[in-house]
Parts: sequence; C-alpha cells; structure tokens
Amino acid sequence: MRKRNKQDSTFSRKQRKRRILVINGPNLNLLGRREQKIYGKVSIEKINTQLKKESVRKGVDIEFYQSNYEGKIVDKIQGTDADFIIINPAAFTHTSVAIRDALTARKIPFIEVHISNIYSREPFRKESFFSDKAVGVISGFREFSYMYALDFATKILI
Ligand code: DQA
Repeated sequence: MRKRNKQDSTFSRKQRKRRILVINGPNLNLLGRREQKIYGKVSIEKINTQLKKESVRKGVDIEFYQSNYEGKIVDKIQGTDADFIIINPAAFTHTSVAIRDALTARKIPFIEVHISNIYSREPFRKESFFSDKAVGVISGFREFSYMYALDFATKILI
C-alpha cells in the first residue's frame, strides 16, 4: 500500500493545523522607513513577529511572504496550501487583474488589508481589484489592520 505523505490533501487537511498565509506587496518591505506619516514607524518584521505570537496563541500556522513582483505573488498564491489568505496587495491593489485572478482561481478565502485608509487618499487609491472578492476589507488601522484580520480569520477557521 502506498504510504500517505504530507502532500496527501485529505490526510493532511484533517491532521494539520489551519494555515494562514500573509502576503505583502511592493514597498511594504520598507515599512517603518517609508512615508512614516502615512504608514507609521513599525517595520514589517515587527508586525510579523506580533502576528506570529498571536497565531501561536490561537493555534494556527502562519506563513509570511513579501514580494515587489506581481508574478511572484501570483506564483505564491497558485502554489500555497493555505486555508486562508491575508493580503495587502499595496500598489497592486489598484492595478492587478493577475493577482485578483490567482485568488479567484484558487478559491481561498481572503481578507484585503491596508495600513492607511485608502478611501481618504488620492482618488486612484479608492479603486481596488480585490474588495468585491474579499471576505472583507480592513483599511486604515495602521499596523493593527493585520491583527484584526488575523483575529477574524481564526474565528472562522477554528
Ligand atoms: C497600502 C495602500 C496602497 O495604496 C499603497 O500603494 C501601498 C500600501 C496600505 O497598506 O495602506 O503601498 O496598501
């Protein structure tokens, strides 16, 4: 008989913890140094450390991914086995049909997150290619936007 391995989805889905993937788009690697009045002083590493701590407390697995490249984010979404995605598409929010299509193709529920309130800024930021497909949108709560998203994600996953 073939040995079951971890890739065996029916097997691993039942056994493993719920898994959340946090994706950050372009320039978010500069958080804490970039336009501090808009994006605050907290680095992405600090945000991820807080999210990691909280995920351990809540009993879910969490993975972090940041890229400045649209295609790499598409590849990541195509290849993930996460049960839920928290995504800040950053500037791709307002431009990327490709990332939207990857999310809808995989049918993984996701929350769209923004540090700033995109509705109180330049008009082009009011347009999102993601909002109508998202479970919900959290925008304008600085670095706490991610934590609120994680809180909701775990509520519906566990
Ligand atoms: C952002 C808002 C976007 O308009 C912008 O391009 C970003 C960050 C936010 O988190 O507030 O890079 O997604």
